[in-house]
This record gives sequence, C-alpha cells and structure tokens, in this order.
Amino acid sequence: MNSLKFRQITRLVRNFGTTTRNDFKVAVVGSSGGIGQPLCLLLKRNKLVSKLSIYDIKKTPGVYADLSHIDTKISIEGFQCAENLPAALEKAHVVMVVGGTARKPGMKREDLFNKNASVVEEIANVVAEKCPKALFCIVTNPVNSCVPLAAEILKKKNVFDPKRLFGVTTLDLVRSRTFIAQILGVEPSKVVMPVIGGHSGQTILPVLSQCKPALKLDKEKATKLIKRIQEAGTEVVKAKDQDGGGSATLSMAHAALLFTEALLKGLKGDGKPVKCSFVASDVSDCAYFSTPLQLGKNGVEKNLGLPKLSADEEKLYCIAVEQLKKDIQKGIDYFKKSN
Ligand code: LMR
Repeated sequence: MNSLKFRQITRLVRNFGTTTRNDFKVAVVGSSGGIGQPLCLLLKRNKLVSKLSIYDIKKTPGVYADLSHIDTKISIEGFQCAENLPAALEKAHVVMVVGGTARKPGMKREDLFNKNASVVEEIANVVAEKCPKALFCIVTNPVNSCVPLAAEILKKKNVFDPKRLFGVTTLDLVRSRTFIAQILGVEPSKVVMPVIGGHSGQTILPVLSQCKPALKLDKEKATKLIKRIQEAGTEVVKAKDQDGGGSATLSMAHAALLFTEALLKGLKGDGKPVKCSFVASDVSDCAYFSTPLQLGKNGVEKNLGLPKLSADEEKLYCIAVEQLKKDIQKGIDYFKKSN
C-alpha cells in the first residue's frame, strides 16, 4: 500500500442512528492483533458503547471494513500510523491497550518488557495529551511493570490520577471462576472470589478462602489449583506453540470486555460494579496492587482493600509482594533511564 493511500484510509468513520442511550467512546489500541480483533467484535456488539475507535500500526483498513459491516448502531472510527494515534484517542472515555509482543514458550511475561515498554510509553504520552481524563487500561504485558511506567509518564505530564489507570487482571478471575466452577459443579457465573496481587506467576494470588460458594480443598489440591491459575497463561502459550505461537487472545478479549463493561457501568452510574484491577494503592506494601475496586463516575470510587487471608495465603501474599516490588521498580527504572 503506498503512502498516499495510506493517509486516505487513516481516518475512517461510519455512523448509524442519531441517538444512543450511552455516549461513551472506547478506543482500542492494538485493534488488529489477536486480542484486538475479538475485543473490537465484542465491543461493536456492546450496548454500553456508542463509539468504537480502533487503532493499530497495520491492518486497520481491513479490520475497520469488516467491523463496519456489523449491523449495530455503534459508530466506528479507524486509524493507522503513529501520527494518527492522537486522533484515535481524542475524547475517549476508555482507552484499552492490547497491542505489543506476545510471549513464546519458555518466556516469562517480564521478558516482554524491553519490547513492549516503548509501546506503552508512546501511548501514555498521547493519553496524557489527548484524553487525560480517560480510564486508561493496560492489557499489554508485563502489566506489573507497564502500569508503573505509564504512571510515571502521566506524573511527568502532571495528569496522573490513580483512579484512572488500570492494569487489567480480569483474565485471572475469569480463569479462576472457570476452574473452580468445574470443581464445584456449578455455573461459572455463580463463583465469586477475589484474585489479588499482580498479573504474572506468583504475583497472581487467588484468595480461595474467600470463595463463594465455599471451596473446601485439602492443602495439596488447593496448591495445585493456585498453581494452575498462576500458570494458566503459560498453559495457553504452550498449547498455541504447535499452531504458530502466541498467548491467550480469545479469553483475554472476553476478560477485557468484562472489565470495559464494568468501567462503563461505573461511568454511567449503573449500579456499583466491583472488579479487581492492578492500580496505584496503599493497601499493601507495594505501590501498585490488585484488590477489589468499586468503580464509579471517576474510575476507582473506592478501593475495597485486601480481603481476609488465611495463614497459607499470608505466605503467598509475602511472595507476591516481593516479586511485585521488583516488577514495579523495573517500570520506574525504565522511565528514569529514558527521561
Ligand atoms: C495471559 O495471562 O494469558 C496473558 O497475560 C498472556 C500471557 O503471556 O500469558
């Protein structure tokens, strides 16, 4: 595609209908990727969204054309090339960052930081400039380091609001509910349980002692279940290796949709949505930690704090905190080096 044509298709807009019940613009950064495409599909079908803005460095015209044929009244804009990122994010209420490089077998999420940090850096700078009041959500790994990095950039631009920056950890909850529902023989939607900490290995702490319905497992089974939840992303990475590689995309898109929905309900004042997310907080010994949050018109309405932990969970909490401190520092150090 030559550069002229490229510019012509950088801003594509389709509108259906004139009034919408909600007036929320959701921007997906990384919309052509494995998570981005299914997430955009889910958002294009979601009644809480009025405008969907899709951005990627490549393949936007095709994804845009495809999505724009879906017969829902959500309007859609498509943007491509870094120079158009500001237009993509302008006036967004929610920015969901799902782009970046995915893990390969043998890699940990933190191994992606060197590749993905610059992506997050670029986007955070544009968020600071174009939509500092947006709810800024990071799916791009490693979440534990990318969120502190984004926070430093927003702080430098004097627009950091701890209520509006989120590391998306919803997939850990989605997986926990699925696995626990299988054990209990109930519907996944009936399972309620906090998953706290971060989004990587031992920083993921499912609080089984708080699970409803109650989960009565002996120590060996509980340890096995916790390990499966902590390593579920790796399970997908290994399974996908036989098929061209990659990490979770479909379940991650589902999780990102659930989180976006909760944010939009909060913005709308529709009930009191509660979701765990990795945010700046003082509830633990880490500057960032995922705990249940009540969401509202300004993002985090109330941090519901650390749930009660059993003696075994206390030990896991200490392990999570030690690792998280290092992950968080990595994000801050990157910022210091590049600024
Ligand atoms: C996941 O949990 O599936 C994602 O964070 C992707 C990964 O690398 O595991």
